[in-house]
Amino acid sequence: MKAVQFHEVGGPEVLRYEDVEQPVPAAGQVRLRVAASAFNAADNGMRAGFLPIPVELPHVPGYDVSGTVDALGDGVTGVEVGDAVIAFLPMERNGGAAEYVVAPAESVVAAPTTIPLADAAALPSVALTAWQALFDDGQLRAGQRVLIVGAGGVVGGYAIQLAKRAGVHVIATASPRSIDAVRAAGADQVIDHTDTDLLGALDGQVDVLLNLAPIEPEQFAADVAAVRDGGAVVSTTAFMATPGDDARGVRAATVFVLPNRERLTELVSLVDAGALTVEVTRRVPLTELPAIHAEAAAGRIAGKVVVLA
Ligand SMILES: NC(=O)c1ccc[n+]([C@@H]2O[C@H](COP(=O)([O-])OP(=O)(O)OC[C@H]3O[C@@H](n4cnc5c(N)ncnc54)[C@H](OP(=O)(O)O)[C@@H]3O)[C@@H](O)[C@H]2O)c1
Repeated sequence: MKAVQFHEVGGPEVLRYEDVEQPVPAAGQVRLRVAASAFNAADNGMRAGFLPIPVELPHVPGYDVSGTVDALGDGVTGVEVGDAVIAFLPMERNGGAAEYVVAPAESVVAAPTTIPLADAAALPSVALTAWQALFDDGQLRAGQRVLIVGAGGVVGGYAIQLAKRAGVHVIATASPRSIDAVRAAGADQVIDHTDTDLLGALDGQVDVLLNLAPIEPEQFAADVAAVRDGGAVVSTTAFMATPGDDARGVRAATVFVLPNRERLTELVSLVDAGALTVEVTRRVPLTELPAIHAEAAAGRIAGKVVVLA
């Protein structure tokens, strides 16, 4: 079968489109005929060797995947050949940038039925990240206020929608290119971070500041003033420290997204109920994945790219 993989860490040029052995599902695993995998920034980090995730080489990227079950390992129950599924695959194992991938049976959930199967690869890890950040790390409840910095990106789109559904007031920062998307996702107030002083634009403090953007550490530390005493600062940008304020009881939490089958199933239900929109900005063939990594390394990717197998 065809796959994109890297035999050594390095720049986007280490990715090769090549023939590899079709994987065989071991006990407890299923094999998927891949419909699509999603590109995530962490794929770039793993390929470059920046992320402390112990991948075995050669490694196939693409831990967010959608596809159709085509073989079952021993002992697998509750999943049938022919099922359309999505999964957030274990990041250290081979991913879905291939025609076939094996997945732990407990990682797959039925795909949404109201969107194309390939687009459904855009959902798993990013929507789980938004949920975990808002409600586990942020502990947000109905009636509270969240300020989302970097809301114009992929995680931000899910975070706005999930927060609004939960009855949370959402203040979002965005640049002109993403202001319309942030409004459409349901933000109550949108602040243009390219021409507005954030703290000056707020009509009072928030319970949680959720940062999703690669802002300067000094800016991040200053933004903590937006959070009420006893509130929380939550960040997905794990490459820099999350600031809090001990004197005011403001907690700091850095998100490391975890697989969660029940939650992913709930997210799929929301998609099928029309309560959660999955945005895909580009669909590219597997042969173009190295070019996508190169674009991302140059900082030019906007929105979610899915890679068709
Ligand atoms: N730790 C984890 O488990 C985990 C999981 C998932 C993602 N992540 C990380 O979380 C971050 C967000 O992910 P994503 O997929 O949503 O990325 P993304 O789509 O690139 O979104 C990031 C957004 O940040 C905004 N931005 C850039 N510079 C900014 C600035 N100076 N001030 C305010 N906003 C700024 C951009 O919005 P504009 O449109 O406004 O320019 C961009 O849309 C990434 O760093 C990703 O690697 C971590």
